[in-house]
Formats: sequence, structure tokens, C-alpha cells
Amino acid sequence: MRKTQVVIVGGGPSGLLLSQLLARHGVESLVLEKHTRAHVEGRIRAGLLESGTTELLSEAGVGAKMKREGLVHHGFLLAFAGRTHRIDLQGLAGRSVVVYGQTEIQKDLGDAAGEQVVWEARDVSIQGFEGRQPSVSYTKDGTTRTIACDFIAGCDGYHGVSRASVPPDRIAQYERVYPFGWLGILAEVPPVNDELIYANHPRGFALCSMRSRSRSRYYVQCPLTEKVEDWPDERFWGELKTRLPVDFAERLTTGPSIEKSIAPLRSFIAEPMRFGRLFLAGDAAHIVPPTGAKGLNLAAADVGVLYEGLAEYYRTGSERLLEEYSARALARVWKASRFSWWFTTLMHRIPEKGLDEALASKLQLAELDYLSQSEAASRAVAENYVGLPFAKA
Ligand code: FAD
Ligand code: DHB
Repeated sequence: MRKTQVVIVGGGPSGLLLSQLLARHGVESLVLEKHTRAHVEGRIRAGLLESGTTELLSEAGVGAKMKREGLVHHGFLLAFAGRTHRIDLQGLAGRSVVVYGQTEIQKDLGDAAGEQVVWEARDVSIQGFEGRQPSVSYTKDGTTRTIACDFIAGCDGYHGVSRASVPPDRIAQYERVYPFGWLGILAEVPPVNDELIYANHPRGFALCSMRSRSRSRYYVQCPLTEKVEDWPDERFWGELKTRLPVDFAERLTTGPSIEKSIAPLRSFIAEPMRFGRLFLAGDAAHIVPPTGAKGLNLAAADVGVLYEGLAEYYRTGSERLLEEYSARALARVWKASRFSWWFTTLMHRIPEKGLDEALASKLQLAELDYLSQSEAASRAVAENYVGLPFAKA
């Protein structure tokens, strides 16, 4: 039976980043990804990186293109009641964020990974993680193989096999599914503003983001009952303009969409994140609603804690950091989940039984007005947006 030190299930950003960081510390790993490389790199997802994430990517040796092409943003705008309030990230929290797409990160990591990844590894199953000799089986090109390992990293996203392999009585799961989605489009047009705009509007939330100075990423809140086919480009642009303050709506450049998709919104956390020799990281352990762009950053932060623990184990034989992994990661996960839930609740129109929509909307506007007048409240937003620090090991 073939053997490696760490088997990583899932070749998304968490799995590939972990593999890269481990390699830099002399730890051998094998990544098993069920899809093709082209499929994984084609998924348009997150676009905003905290400084902790950019530092980790650089540490992993995949930061050069991001440093060249990423756009540094020192603030963003909240739009509501026809006006805007700027959150000065640099001034209030002393840090900035970087706009650089998940697709680019995925490509950079894929280029660096080489032979450590088995693409199209089907029927992955994990065994023995409660003991000292776990193993992982998979099928590729009709042949089934089993790999013995010291540890398994479950980096296989929300629908993956890792979390599903944990006996139900060993895991607590917390979940809220929001009663609306985000319709997103990508278009080869210059962004309406050089900073992001998060808009609260009676017709629903809108977000103006970007991937570069010539490529825009825009989102509008939409009912879960609607399909992409219900949204020809003209309808999307019309709805986006309606939800933006007039001066931005007038400046908006429209054009044909090159991608269009609807994402559901969910808050989900599984506890703990370690089960014997199985460690969950990223979306396998938690999902946040996208408002505030925490999903990818949380995944990277988990990996930052996990690779340190694994590296220390192979360097010294000590399991101290591995034992602390779940508690350290979860302390931060809960805070980021809280922020994502709060920001989602502040900015969206929430159609829910038992909730008076007019009251909810008035309370949102009062809170946004308060934010625009209180430096302390704006600072709290800025601190969370740029990413909270970790408790020291
Ligand atoms: P994933 O990216 O989900 O990667 C998991 C990998 O595991 C996948 O490649 C999958 O194919 C593989 N896998 C699954 N099951 C198996 C198996 N059984 N065997 C082998 N491999 C398997 N975050 C933001 O911050 N901003 C956004 O705008 C944003 N938009 C999003 C839009 C969508 C539609 C989705 C789904 C997510 C979005 N996110 C966003 C969240 C962000 O993309 C994720 O947090 C991030 O991708 C997490 O990385 P990950 O590697 O943990 O999980
Ligand atoms: C993007 C997504 C987000 O959820 C966010 O808060 C900011 C930017 C984006 O896809 O660009």
C-alpha cells in the first residue's frame, strides 16, 4: 500500500494551499480532487482577500502574480437612503484588503502543485481516523487505490465526504438558510467606482465589486424561486441601477455578461473541527453568507493554523498545536460568522414570517445612520472587514 504523511481531500483553495505550505516545511502530502483542474479553475467565486490571506499565499510561494495584479483597497462604501458612508479601512483598522479573484488563486496554486494532486479522483472514502493509522481510498481511471497516511485533512467543501464520515453523535452542526439568493454577473466593463459599494435598498441588496480595472463583478439580492434564465442582462442592469444612489447609477457602464449565476446564502458551522486524525478546514467545516467576503478568507485562516500544527508535529513530534487546532480555528470562525450574519441582516430585505418588513427596514436605516455618525461603530465594522487576528498559540 502506498503511504504519504498527509492525505488532503479536496483540491479547492484550502486543499491546495495546505499542500503547498506543508511542502515548504518538508511535509509530504497528496491531494485528491474529484473534478478536473479546468472545472475547479472555472468556478467564479470570491474576490476579496484579507491581509492575513495574502501573507499566507506569499508564504506558500504563490504570491507573485497576486502582488503584481491584485488591487489594494483602503476602504469601501455603504449606500443607503440615497447617500453613502465610506468605511476607511486603513484609517480605522490600519489595514487594507486586496481584490484578486479566487479563480486566479486557484490557477496560481494549481501551477505550483504539480504531481501532488490527483485530479478526477472518484469515490473517495476515508477510514481509521480514530486510530493511529488512517487511510484513504479512491478510484482513478477505473483503478481503486488505498493510501496509508498519518493524518487526513478534509478540505472538500460543504458537500464533501470528510464531514459526512464523522459519526453524527460526535459532531454538532448549526445552520441557517437565508430566504433569498445572490444573482452575480461578471462583465468586461470598468467598475462603477474604484472602491466596492454595498447598497441597502427597499428592493433589496446590491453589491458593486470588481476583478480588475476593466472587469466588474456585480450582485443583486433575488428570490430563491428565480432562475438565471429569468434574468436577461437588461433586467439585471436595470435592477442594479435602481438599487444604487443616482450619481452611481448614472455612471454605471453596462455590457454583455460573461458569467451569470445564483448563489444561495447559508450560515453553517460544524463543531469540533478535529476528529482523531481527521481535521476539517474551510467550507467542509463552515459556510458564511457572502456579505463581507469571509468565506475564502476563513478557509485560508484555518489552513494557516492547521499547517503550523502539522509542521510542528513533523519537526518535534509534539501534538500540542494539533490539539489546539479546533478551538483556535473555531474561536475565529464564530466571530467571522457573526460578522457575516450581522452584515447580511443589515443590508438585505428579509422576507420572513413573523418579521414586520417595514419595521426591519426602518431599524436597518437607523443602524446605517448611526454607523455614518459614529467612528466607534465604523471602526468595529472596519476591524471585522479587514479580518480579526488569531489568538496566539
Ligand atoms: P471548496 O472551494 O468548496 O473546495 C472543495 C473542493 O473539494 C472542491 O474542489 C470539490 O470539487 C472537492 N470535493 C468535494 N467533495 C469531494 C470528494 N468527495 N472527493 C474529492 N474532492 C471533493 N466567498 C467569498 O468570500 N466571496 C464570494 O463572493 C463567494 N462566492 C461564492 C459563490 C459560490 C457559488 C460558492 C459555492 C462559494 C462562494 N464563496 C464566496 C465561498 C468561497 O468560495 C469558499 O469559502 C471557498 O471556496 C472555500 O474553499 P475550500 O477549499 O474550503 O472549499
Ligand atoms: C465579492 C464578494 C463579496 O461577498 C464581497 O463581500 C465582496 C466582494 C466579490 O465577489 O467580488
